[in-house]
Amino acid sequence: MKNRSIILAKRPIGNPKSDDFALHEGELPDIQDNEILVKNFAISLDAGFRNWMNEDAGDEILPAMPLGEPVMGLSLCEVIETKNSEYAVGDKLMARFAWQEYSIGKPGDFIAKLPRDLSFPYSYYLGVLGDTGMSAYFALTEIAPPKEGQTVLISAAGGAVGSIAGQIAKIYGARTVGISSSPEKCNFLINDLGYDAAVNRKAPEGQAEAIKAVCPDGVDVFLDNVGGETLQAAITNMNHRGRIVMIGAVTHYTSEGPPTAPNNLFELSSKEITAQGLMTHFRHDKYDTVRQQLETWLSEGKLKSFEHKLNGIENVGVAFCQMFDGKNFGKTVVDL
Ligand SMILES: NC(=O)c1ccc[n+]([C@@H]2O[C@H](COP(=O)([O-])OP(=O)(O)OC[C@H]3O[C@@H](n4cnc5c(N)ncnc54)[C@H](OP(=O)(O)O)[C@@H]3O)[C@@H](O)[C@H]2O)c1
Repeated sequence: MKNRSIILAKRPIGNPKSDDFALHEGELPDIQDNEILVKNFAISLDAGFRNWMNEDAGDEILPAMPLGEPVMGLSLCEVIETKNSEYAVGDKLMARFAWQEYSIGKPGDFIAKLPRDLSFPYSYYLGVLGDTGMSAYFALTEIAPPKEGQTVLISAAGGAVGSIAGQIAKIYGARTVGISSSPEKCNFLINDLGYDAAVNRKAPEGQAEAIKAVCPDGVDVFLDNVGGETLQAAITNMNHRGRIVMIGAVTHYTSEGPPTAPNNLFELSSKEITAQGLMTHFRHDKYDTVRQQLETWLSEGKLKSFEHKLNGIENVGVAFCQMFDGKNFGKTVVDL
């Protein structure tokens, strides 16, 4: 059977560019005992995977992606052939597979089974009902739940995780402030996502001053998706015993040298700030329960999904690049 994939043609330098990726057509081998064959319906573009495109970036989550091999990501797929008794033909899965039309799943792969009858459009299970929504939920419920009226600041606030986090923080009664990269995206934060205020990270006065202007009483909870100078500016504005959830660090994935910011970590001591990392992957056992809560909020109209969608396997790399250029308003997904 023919299979089209997007391979890593070059290691990206800084922000990924479309010629870092190439379309490749190959033959799919037959599946072996305990394996499954799936058809991928949609590919989720997740900024964090940029990290594993760097040489020597391997860790306990994923090895560094080899050049010339299909790029790893998350997909929404359906089992079309099985030699594993845990899976039946027709099962729908959210899984860590490569950017491919078809994938072979092996024991030990990261796979979350979905209900057979999906209640929402399938792309939601990669976004608001997938790792993206789960990350926002865990950050605001298990790590740094805000008290009513507290100020929650969120970086990359109009992206996949940020767009859900802002809405969940509002559900818990917080005052929400989002950071983004353009006046258009700041309008999106306020008019569509319901943020109380927005900060343009490219503001001429600098991020620290721009945050201070809209957070006159300081920041109680900071959900950080980008690290670097944005994290530094947020730390400057944190209140005593504020809490930071380190969800991701987009600026570090694309940095060409060692990061120079943040340079104010002593403020964590002087203001008794708590900073905790989050890796949603390690909370896999809670996905079903959390998905039910997110589905309830969607049904009640308390939560909305915003997507930046492209079509076709040939556009998966393009979509990934657009996300780093901030062109995405919400979750980036490619339908296959
Ligand atoms: N820990 C976990 O388990 C987990 C799970 C999922 C995601 N994450 C993390 O969550 C973060 C967001 O991921 P996502 O997939 O939802 O991506 P996303 O927010 O949809 O897209 C990335 C956004 O980062 C911003 N950005 C790009 N370059 C930047 C720069 N140089 N400085 C500051 N901001 C920059 C852009 O937003 P603006 O144009 O609006 O600034 C861009 O849209 C990533 O760090 C990812 O690793 C972590």
